Amino acid sequence: MSPRLRHLTTLENLPRDTIERLLDRAEALRDACAHGTRKLSVLAGRTVLNLFFEPSTRTRTSFELAARRLGADVVNFDIGFSSTSKGEELFDTLHTLEAMHLDAIIVRHKQSGTPDELVGHAMSGVSVINAGDGNRAHPTQGLLDVLTIRQHRPDFENLIVVICGDIKHSRVARSDIHALTALGTKEIRVCGPSTLMPSAEEFPKVHYVENFDEAIRGADAVITLRLQKERMAAIDLPDEAAYFSHYGLDQRRLALAAKGCLVMHPGPINRGIEIASDVADGAQSRILEQVGNGVFVRMAVLNELLAR
Ligand code: CP
Repeated sequence: MSPRLRHLTTLENLPRDTIERLLDRAEALRDACAHGTRKLSVLAGRTVLNLFFEPSTRTRTSFELAARRLGADVVNFDIGFSSTSKGEELFDTLHTLEAMHLDAIIVRHKQSGTPDELVGHAMSGVSVINAGDGNRAHPTQGLLDVLTIRQHRPDFENLIVVICGDIKHSRVARSDIHALTALGTKEIRVCGPSTLMPSAEEFPKVHYVENFDEAIRGADAVITLRLQKERMAAIDLPDEAAYFSHYGLDQRRLALAAKGCLVMHPGPINRGIEIASDVADGAQSRILEQVGNGVFVRMAVLNELLAR
C-alpha cells in the first residue's frame, strides 16, 4: 500500500492505489452522509486555512464545508482585505499565518508551482493542498471528476473520455488526464482548436482530435472546459460564436456519443460558448453531481492529510 500523503499538490505520478484510496474514502463519506451523518469529529482541534489568490465559488466553499464537516476550524483569508495589498510577500504572509498555528493551507494561485514552493517553505507539520495553480494542476477537481465517472462507469479499462476546449490553459484538464491515466482509462481524447492544445510531448498517450464531431463519437464521458481568457494572450482568443459552432456541446453532437454519455464540466460554465443550456441542464448532465462530489473528495483529502 502506498504511504499516506502529507501534501497534495498534483496528481501527476500519484500511484493508482493512492487515488483509489481517496475515492473509496470519498464514497464512504458520501454513503455516511446519505444515511444522515452530516458532521464528524476526526479533525476536531485542527485548523485549516483557505488561502485563495484567485476567485473561486466551488473549490473554496466545498473545502470549507469539508473541513467543518470533519470538525476542523476554518479560516478564510480574504486577499482583498489582507496586507498582501500593502506589498507583503507570499512567504511573509505564509510565516505570519503559520505563527497562528495552522495544520493545513489550501492554496489557489495564478502562478504554476506556488503550492510546491509553499511545501518547501512551510513549517513541518503544516500540510499544503493545491486548490489550483496557474495552468498546472487542480488535483481535487481531477479526483472529483474521476469519482463522478466511477459512480456511473466503474470500468475505466473500457472507457473513452473526451476533454474538449481550452486544454492548453487548463489545470483541470491536466489533473483529469493524470487521474484518468492512473486509473487505466482505455482512451483519452482531447479536442479543441490547435492554438489551445498542449504540446504533443506533454501527453504522448492522449489522442488529439481537432474535429469535435469525430472526437465525441462513441465517447462514454465528455468533459467540456471554459475558455480560460484570464490565461490567454489576445492572439489566442477565439470568436465566441465561431467557437460554439466548432466546439460547443449541443444535442446534435451529444447524440454522436455512446448512449448515456456523461456530460461534465468543472464550472463555471459559459452557456452558449462551450455548452448549450439544454445540454448543461439535460438528463445526461452530471455537472451538479460533480459539485456535490467535490465536498466528499475534499473531506477524503483532508482526512488523509490531517487525521491523527
Ligand atoms: N471548478 C472550479 O475550480 O471552480 P471554482 O473556480 O468556482 O472553484
